[in-house]
Amino acid sequence: MLRVNENYQKLAASYLFSDIAQRVAAFQKQNPHTKVIKLGIGDVTRALPAACIQAFHHAVDEMASDHTFKGYGPDQGYDFLREKIARHDFQALGAEVSADEVFVSDGAKCDTGNFQEIFSRDLRIAVPDPVYPVYVDTNVMAGRTGNYVDGRYEGLVYLESTQENGYVPQPPSEPVDLIYLCFPNNPTGACATADRLKQWVDYARKEKALILFDAAYEAFIRDRSLPRTIYQIDGAREVAVEFRSFSKTAGFTGTRCAYTVVPKECMGFDAAGGGHSLHTLWYRRHCTKFNGVSYPVQRAAEAIYSDAGREQVRELVAYYLHNASLIRDKMTLLGYDCAGGDNSPYIWIKTGTDSWEFFDRLLNEAGVVCTPGSGFGRCGRGYIRISAFNNVDAVTEALERIAGVLRK
Ligand code: MLT
Repeated sequence: MLRVNENYQKLAASYLFSDIAQRVAAFQKQNPHTKVIKLGIGDVTRALPAACIQAFHHAVDEMASDHTFKGYGPDQGYDFLREKIARHDFQALGAEVSADEVFVSDGAKCDTGNFQEIFSRDLRIAVPDPVYPVYVDTNVMAGRTGNYVDGRYEGLVYLESTQENGYVPQPPSEPVDLIYLCFPNNPTGACATADRLKQWVDYARKEKALILFDAAYEAFIRDRSLPRTIYQIDGAREVAVEFRSFSKTAGFTGTRCAYTVVPKECMGFDAAGGGHSLHTLWYRRHCTKFNGVSYPVQRAAEAIYSDAGREQVRELVAYYLHNASLIRDKMTLLGYDCAGGDNSPYIWIKTGTDSWEFFDRLLNEAGVVCTPGSGFGRCGRGYIRISAFNNVDAVTEALERIAGVLRK
């Protein structure tokens, strides 16, 4: 008899963003003439930067000739991309990261979801609340939690991110082994200062724990006083793995390219206390289960680091940040407490009412899709998240429609 992984029975029936997509599809079927405006899942709408397109075309042409054709690429990604990542995203900021610590992949979602595989089952895990559901669901699938009770899984340590702590939690009083952090935060848009990150790094060093630091939204940081990578914090190389993505930075949600940094100093331990390099373990996992991102896509990603590419990415990010400020200003004017939206493409809005009810109201009465905060955890109840990823005309229209509904 084929037994299934019964841990899956503990999960909510569908993934948050699939659930939303199904509700939107049902609404659209019943209201075929309504132009639905999607400010739910953080999916980009603007074209790839011209520098990426040019590099992409050129690389596709290379695949058309036997002389320049490429088969399987190097396990960790092409040197041309990893060297630029190390130089521009880290060394230029004074953060020590070398190209051979970079693993190119097809998404930060996959990497943050897969990384737990290299650890034992009986870890003590801390996750923020609200939280990007991937961190939690993948640990549920792996059998590291108990049941889902009143919006939380038994066995996890939840780090409450609330209005009171500015949505940036402090290290817990109890020991944990694995900590998920995300800054700029999804969903709240909050950013951690260097002092706050230092507390986390110190805690992880003391506990021999590891921080999985999701920095997928780093490009949206405008405040120069904020750290752009956890490796700007002393000691982080021993205790932090960082995840980055080109999805939101350069419009790669449909193109797929991301990377993970695993410093050589990061260690995990066996039952006898012996140390094991996480770089070695992740390398083993990565080259066993993954055959790399396609050559043209890695060339397109490399182009982001050219002078023209950097300028185009800056412009793209500024465009979405402008949308974010429109959303935040309008929702504030309508009387709602808002967080995020300044160094982040997400605006976290306190509605004070049931998140799904608010979601349904905006969908049914305004034809606008947001994300219900409760989908990110118990602390998200009474909140919604609005994403700035859409064209400015659509955002402007959505805000007019929302104002029309909420002013009623
Ligand atoms: C989100 O909307 O939270 C993100 O788009 C999800 C993702 O990047 O997977």
